[in-house]
Amino acid sequence: MTNLHAPMQPSKLQNYNSPRGAEAYKADYQNKLHRKWSDKRERALLTRYFAQIGHVDRILDLPSGHGRLSDLLHAHCKTLIEGDWSFTMVSLNKRDHGTDRRRYCRASALEIPLPDGAVDVAVSFRLSHHLETQELRERHLRELFRVAKKHVIVTWFSATSLKNMLRQLRVKLAGKKPKNVLRNERVRAIAQEAGFRQTLAKPLFLIGSGHVLGLFTRT
Ligand SMILES: C[S@@+](CC[C@H](N)C(=O)[O-])C[C@H]1O[C@@H](n2cnc3c(N)ncnc32)[C@H](O)[C@@H]1O
Repeated sequence: MTNLHAPMQPSKLQNYNSPRGAEAYKADYQNKLHRKWSDKRERALLTRYFAQIGHVDRILDLPSGHGRLSDLLHAHCKTLIEGDWSFTMVSLNKRDHGTDRRRYCRASALEIPLPDGAVDVAVSFRLSHHLETQELRERHLRELFRVAKKHVIVTWFSATSLKNMLRQLRVKLAGKKPKNVLRNERVRAIAQEAGFRQTLAKPLFLIGSGHVLGLFTRT
């Protein structure tokens, strides 16, 4: 059954919602080498994407987590809206980044509490692959396209990535759990239905990560 308010594994969601889990996620990006690398790569890609987008009025960052990308996004807009399902992530983010040209909300990325076209750019990093069903992953995409007036920047775990192909072998041979993936053409089709086209789509890394970062622009 679809559970809009607990779409991730309950233990993962509880972890993000707990002060210890939220602080640990933040600390990982300061201490772990692979996290630092992916953070660096994500920032480089985001900077490149914003070179195309330019400076805008409003950006929505959902889920914002502890505000890992807050400063970068803030530099590209007049007002940044930071939202997350975890109360703890939202308060940690607010404590660390303050309220100057920033708004905070506790929100579900599956039922975004904003009207259609409310922001210029809707950004979602590292949520899609946590959503347990295809229906929820697609719903999240549709919500981003609904609230974005001009652009959507979103990550998903690609079904055709090397990492997923290797995982599929281990699913067959060792009974591992399948990844929560999306097919790239399905993402493009959902974008098109919503009136967007894919402008850029870059893998975070060719080896070792199946994540893709897409930039979509309203046609
Ligand atoms: C892996 S973290 C990514 C955070 C941030 N985007 C980043 O890249 O650092 C996933 C985040 O999604 C949040 N989350 C989980 N389910 C959500 C939902 N349905 N709506 C909004 N946020 C959700 C979690 O609380 C957590 O902060």
